[in-house]
Amino acid sequence: MQKKHYLCSLIMVTTDLHAELDRLSVSYGADRMVVLVAASVAPVWQKFFSDRFRVLVLADGEENKSLDTLQRVWDFLFEADITRSGLLLCVGGGTVTDLGGLAAATYKRGIHYINIPTTLLAMVDAAVGGKTGINYRGLKNAVGAFYPPVETIVWPEWLSTLPAEQLLSGFAEMLKTGLLADGQKIPQAEGLWQRLMQYDMERMDPTELTPLIADCIAVKQYIVTADPSETGLRKTLNLGHTFGHALEETAFAETKNGAQTGLLHGHAVLYGLIAELYLSHTLLGCEREALQQLTQRMIHYYGRPACKCTDRERIIRLMHQDKKNERATEINCTLLRSTGHPVINQIITDAQADEALEYLFSL
Ligand code: GLY
Repeated sequence: MQKKHYLCSLIMVTTDLHAELDRLSVSYGADRMVVLVAASVAPVWQKFFSDRFRVLVLADGEENKSLDTLQRVWDFLFEADITRSGLLLCVGGGTVTDLGGLAAATYKRGIHYINIPTTLLAMVDAAVGGKTGINYRGLKNAVGAFYPPVETIVWPEWLSTLPAEQLLSGFAEMLKTGLLADGQKIPQAEGLWQRLMQYDMERMDPTELTPLIADCIAVKQYIVTADPSETGLRKTLNLGHTFGHALEETAFAETKNGAQTGLLHGHAVLYGLIAELYLSHTLLGCEREALQQLTQRMIHYYGRPACKCTDRERIIRLMHQDKKNERATEINCTLLRSTGHPVINQIITDAQADEALEYLFSL
């Protein structure tokens, strides 16, 4: 029997994808719907759609989150005669949901779109909350809009097809949500960190993960509904990301010069969380236990960060360029006063950032 967890009117976690697609065909009309699908999943997903809707396959990867690809999507929408009452389905990871969302936001001044995320990372983060965008002038998500999907449909069964590294990457965003969740005034947040800590990450079984995924999405949905354009509360979701983005960019540069093989976003966030929990402990007195628990998981499942200690200066330089900063001279982080109690706009010094990196690289 079909089982759905409704989190709010806009997001559902379902065990029956095909029933959802039937529902969409009926409520929107198949002739008014078109689909973007990520190339990495197209061999399987295309057959769910191709006899019902027109499909455009998009190459995966940050380098394709570009103005050229956006233009291709606009052309696709025009060629399919999509009117302002049309619907765009975005099926894939964050690249497709971010870029597709921006295409939907701008085409004829805005059409509806629905996200169907196919990575754990996109299920619990990118596909929820309407941060749309493309990369521009070498800067990640430099052009975009806050434009939420009308629905996000999450089908956890799909996770059984994904490699363990991908699941770990998504799980890191769930750990972040767990760390900041308890203070949020929604039932799904209660004890979420403990429940995530009790989960045996060796298993990554979609059925077991479903309630945790649903609760993480509910926490995110609560936050983005309260603060859709990130003026306050939504900044708490940046926990781990000031260090995480700088580590990711450093790894990306090292990949280009052949020094390492890259770093998945969630892995970078996990390392960022450790650095920021270290600062939360030393600067704000956050309990050490969370840092210890996370460090244990890092060593066991994610491995130590591959960037070298000599990169510390470069990582700090990158943190100064983070778009969250209001001034170029500062490094702005979200930290924790205690588990479940995030504090935004914490300005840290270069020396403090360096100490946190030294801690991370010493593990
Ligand atoms: N990924 C963080 C946010 O959506 O605000």
